Amino acid sequence: MATFGAEIVSVINKLQDVFSAVGLSTSSIDLPQICVLGSQSSGKSSVLENIVGRDFLPRGSGIVTRRPLVLQLINRPATPSPNGVAKPDDTKSGGNATNPDEWGEFLHLPGEKFFDFHKIRAEIVRDTEAKTGKNAGISPVPINLRIFSPNVLTLTLVDLPGLTKVPVGDQPKDIERQIRDMLMKYISRPSCIILAVTPGNMDLANSDGLKMAREVDPEGTRTIGVLTKIDLMDAGTDVIDILAGRVIPLRLGYVPVVNRGQRDIDNSKAITAALEAEKTFFETHPSYRSKAQFCGTPYLARRLNMILMHHIRSTLPDIKTRIAQQLTKFNAELQSLGGAHGDANAGNVVLSVITEFTSEFRTMIDGNTNDLAVNE
Ligand code: GDP
Ligand code: NA
Ligand code: MG
Repeated sequence: MATFGAEIVSVINKLQDVFSAVGLSTSSIDLPQICVLGSQSSGKSSVLENIVGRDFLPRGSGIVTRRPLVLQLINRPATPSPNGVAKPDDTKSGGNATNPDEWGEFLHLPGEKFFDFHKIRAEIVRDTEAKTGKNAGISPVPINLRIFSPNVLTLTLVDLPGLTKVPVGDQPKDIERQIRDMLMKYISRPSCIILAVTPGNMDLANSDGLKMAREVDPEGTRTIGVLTKIDLMDAGTDVIDILAGRVIPLRLGYVPVVNRGQRDIDNSKAITAALEAEKTFFETHPSYRSKAQFCGTPYLARRLNMILMHHIRSTLPDIKTRIAQQLTKFNAELQSLGGAHGDANAGNVVLSVITEFTSEFRTMIDGNTNDLAVNE
């Protein structure tokens, strides 16, 4: 599960361990949220699902995502398997085997663990209908889902309803404004990384997602363009001009992807098969084969990794200061209780762990900067 690099997962876990050791909440790291933004049926849910590497989001033509889904991935170490018995191999089932170490939990169903990811999807659909009816109604009330796994980065992804203009079904006349307001709440946060999703077979100049992303991120420091449905483009057309920044340049660039089409969804095509087909598509397409390593979902996930690492690096000095302050306060409290001996020493140990961590982290990022430079 999860296309995020094992390296960054372990680094962030280390940092979060240090945090809990000194009694600071791990949320102090304030990892960015990743939100998808784009028009209805542009492929937002499909992109998120591919990034997570599990089949669990409702997708399809028409308005399927009708409430925000706040998806918290939470890293949790695997429990050792008894008597060395192998656990189910995720790759052999197309990514949907149940695994005792991976499950989902909804905020509205406390204590209930979902090991079957298809049941997670069914519950998202059920709760959406319960709160908004069956007739295309929308609601700003989010569904909160947590996924626990040893293979994920502790991180929040948000699946959002798409921008739409004409009311259908039970939708109010001002549906366009209501959805805009809902999306604005998420994407205007400075810590939100925006995946602005536009189908490759649509004119980029008409991309409502890109327009809105520009409103909240005019410098383009936290917007990545994602071009979907490249497989549906007319023969002889491609997105090379967009990738080269000759249409609407984005500082962080664009990544073209191929998700599962409606027929693949109807035939329950496995996510691993879809990722394999995407790879073959780019490697054999005359327009993309010379740059296939900069195309597709795995490359998108790597770009996200790099952006997260840079974000963390920029917050490290502040984290160090806050930990030092916390330790000073802690020692002062101990002293006032009359039991200070040796504890200043413990504080130094923690600070040296952080210092060591910082330099380790720098080395790791510097080893990866070439990667980020590619599209800039
Ligand atoms: P959302 O409404 O933006 O969340 O879009 P969905 O992920 O629900 O996808 C809408 C429809 O477009 C579904 O039928 C998907 O199968 C289809 N779709 C999404 N991405 C692609 C793609 O890259 N290629 C093809 N052929 N179909 C896609
Ligand atoms: Na849709
Ligand atoms: Mg959707």
